[in-house]
Amino acid sequence: MKFTFILFLVTLFLSFDQTFDLPASIERGKSIYEAQCITCHMAEGEGLPGVFPPLARADYLTDKNRLVKVVLQGVRGEMKVNGTDYNGEMTGFMLSDQETADVLNYICNTWGNKAEAIKPADIQPALKTVTKNYQPY
Ligand code: HEC
Repeated sequence: MKFTFILFLVTLFLSFDQTFDLPASIERGKSIYEAQCITCHMAEGEGLPGVFPPLARADYLTDKNRLVKVVLQGVRGEMKVNGTDYNGEMTGFMLSDQETADVLNYICNTWGNKAEAIKPADIQPALKTVTKNYQPY
């Protein structure tokens, strides 16, 4: 009886994990990007040197927790992206956990970027982490 229950939980957990559809998330994220981010970070994620940092092959994209905070809480202050200095500000966006995961999966898997999937369940825990040298908007 107990064993059956544990087996049930394990199966449930595995099936949840497998049903995360990264290509579908990236596709949804593309529309969010085109509606909310493209005006500054541009169609090819190239940004505007010195003003809007690039997202294409940007060195910051490796820190998942920081990315979640940047999108939801905004970011300000000095930063160096791919060797170029920025000192601007970006407001946070009002996005659901799923939308946040989708737009991040899009930017992290487009224009030559490649990363592990970010899932909606990763968003709230990421907001609770401590990120060095990060200033919200
Ligand atoms: C109004 C212009 C503007 C919009 C719209 C905008 N950003 Fe930004 N973004 C900026 C600026 C400016 C910075 C740099 C802030 C600084 O210098 O501290 C930045 C920084 C970033 C960074 C950190 C730099 C890096 O390469 O990792 C990420 C990630 C990012 N933005 C993602 C997004 C996403 C995703 C969206 C859409 C949901 C978005 N931005 C919308 C202006 C914008």
